[in-house]
Amino acid sequence: MRAAEISGRSRADLTTKRGDESALRVIAHAPGHPGDGHPGRQHLGDDVLEVGPGPGLTTELLRLDVGHLTAVELDADLAADLATRLAGTNVEVINGDATELPFGDQQFTAVVSCNMLHHIPTVDLQNRMFAEGARVLRAGGLFVATDCVASDKLAAFHHEDIYNPIDPATLHRRLTAAGFTTIDIRTYDGGWAVHAHLPVG
Ligand SMILES: C[S@@+](CC[C@H](N)C(=O)[O-])C[C@H]1O[C@@H](n2cnc3c(N)ncnc32)[C@H](O)[C@@H]1O
Repeated sequence: MRAAEISGRSRADLTTKRGDESALRVIAHAPGHPGDGHPGRQHLGDDVLEVGPGPGLTTELLRLDVGHLTAVELDADLAADLATRLAGTNVEVINGDATELPFGDQQFTAVVSCNMLHHIPTVDLQNRMFAEGARVLRAGGLFVATDCVASDKLAAFHHEDIYNPIDPATLHRRLTAAGFTTIDIRTYDGGWAVHAHLPVG
């Protein structure tokens, strides 16, 4: 059986479900939000970067809660498809690498990563992604990431694909090293989510 046919569901189906859940987790569960009905806008700010949008399911949800969303996707075909689909909206799609972001320092109010980090092949490169996120965030900016934890099912799903899931127990140390503070890590069935801020000044 091909990995993408696990449980009779296609890769796109699985990505859709995870993507929807992840984006909603980012939007709805930012710690300390005032519950004013717009927690995403309140916490992500008005100039947000998403890394690894893939087919754009998370992008479609995130963009509803932010003023402007920049999405950086490594895969040229996925980036081109998403750019075409979201042309004329508040989303700009760029074909680029989250470990080497094509932006100046202190540009974004938030950086969001949904189900992407396990696709970065080494721990050093993942740490570079954290450092790049910190570099492009404004003072006080918010880094939000969600991803899955290691499992046999996930490993099978990524047969012949990059599969480097993060142990959430390492996140606090690694995000601290990248410069983040007030790091809030939550685990849930099959995955984790983190919200981390840069110091205000
Ligand atoms: C599993 S998909 C997640 C898509 C979407 N965020 C979601 O949750 O449904 C991961 C995406 O990250 C992209 N990706 C992997 N490494 C990347 C990198 N270094 N920079 C930007 N995108 C990357 C992959 O090409 C893929 O489209």
